[in-house]
Amino acid sequence: MKKSKLTIVGGGSTYTLGILMSLIEESNHLPLSHITLYDTDTSRQEKIGRAASILLKEHYPSLENFKYTSNKKEAFKDTDIIFVQIRTGGLTMREKDEQIPIKHGLVGQETCGAGGMAYGLRSIPDMIQLVDDIRSLNSDAWILNYTNPAAIVGLALDKIFPDDKRLLNICDMPIAIMKSYSDILEEDIWNLEADYFGLNHFGWFTSIRNKQGYDYTSQLKQLILNNDFKPTDKLIANDPSWQATFKQAKQMIQDFNEYLPNTYLQYYLYPNELSKKEPMDNTRARQVINGREKEVFTDCDVIINQNSTQNIDISGDIHGIYMIRIAASLVHHLKERFIIMTRNEGIISNLPYDALVEVPALLGNEGVEPFKIGEISTFYKGLLENQYAYEKLIIEAYFDNDYEKLLQALILNRTVIDTNKAKEVLKDLFEANKDHWPVLNKREETL
Ligand code: G6P
Ligand code: MN
Repeated sequence: MKKSKLTIVGGGSTYTLGILMSLIEESNHLPLSHITLYDTDTSRQEKIGRAASILLKEHYPSLENFKYTSNKKEAFKDTDIIFVQIRTGGLTMREKDEQIPIKHGLVGQETCGAGGMAYGLRSIPDMIQLVDDIRSLNSDAWILNYTNPAAIVGLALDKIFPDDKRLLNICDMPIAIMKSYSDILEEDIWNLEADYFGLNHFGWFTSIRNKQGYDYTSQLKQLILNNDFKPTDKLIANDPSWQATFKQAKQMIQDFNEYLPNTYLQYYLYPNELSKKEPMDNTRARQVINGREKEVFTDCDVIINQNSTQNIDISGDIHGIYMIRIAASLVHHLKERFIIMTRNEGIISNLPYDALVEVPALLGNEGVEPFKIGEISTFYKGLLENQYAYEKLIIEAYFDNDYEKLLQALILNRTVIDTNKAKEVLKDLFEANKDHWPVLNKREETL
């Protein structure tokens, strides 16, 4: 199998070492000759890069070249696959995205609701610039984008790069949920096949089968109803916040029994309860800063000091493996099936043509070949149209510099709805994002 060259943008991320371990574990699916880390935050990158270099020397002997750089040309020019995982404003701004809505009695979440909107407006310009930079140096690398809030970022990218067939937006949540399905069913995760539809962080599994055609869907619902549903991927299994999130699946299936929900639907279906999920001084960002981030950087220090990864507990996880299997399917034209985001164009026939839907597709060297879904029924259509209108209005607000469209977007978001609350939360979010958001023009009478 031909070896590929891979670049990770956001090399200083807390996920990078896990992705590298996943690359090592998956080296028979996606053999690599080169790995390059790229980050604009040179100090984070330096630490992860030095640890990565030791780790790869020990565990990836067939790799010919590893480097970390903040030089775009070195990172983007001569490479086949680019994983993108950036966070504009870092975890510091994530914390504000979560805290400010909570202050107004709303859901405080990095990708859902008012916080997700704030993060979206921050990420759009950076992502457009990044893809532009990559494409000016490399016209045919596969760009696999994990950057959040994927629904909003993906829509903006689709508007600016509508013909780029080698730019894919991906989320690991469906596969992280399937990892738990595979563990309760005691079935190999790669032998499971899902039917799924929705928008990013807003969708449902309609059926889960194995590749031999055995349908597990009803059994799975029963198992979730009769047991606690738990995260089982290593990255999240022991995390109380993720445990609480997975637990909520049972309630959702009790209330709405037709399909198996994406865990993110909890924020839209139980906004009152979820607005009280986390205390202001310990929202998810703070938990990640004190948890995963500390652990990763402490591990790096130990690896660098002892010049070895001995006694360090890092391993591959589904977050990394999913991206890698997708890359392998694209590069080696395997035409395997994955859940990804793509322009609707009639896949869900009664949803807008230009929505960015999350659905199963075959991936090969021509790009994405989605499966048709057809018509969806009223409940889902109503929810999805509403959520898509929210997403689209954010994009319009951004490109038209229009405050009122942002306000309209928030009114449509199920976690907000009330106009006075929306105005108040917008004011605070605007203040916190002064250095990041575009100019937003208001009509005279609303000033
Ligand atoms: C899942 C979602 C991602 C999100 C992440 C947050 O993986 O699919 O979109 O960024 O969770 O996890 P964290 O542990 O940082 O709260
Ligand atoms: Mn996601």
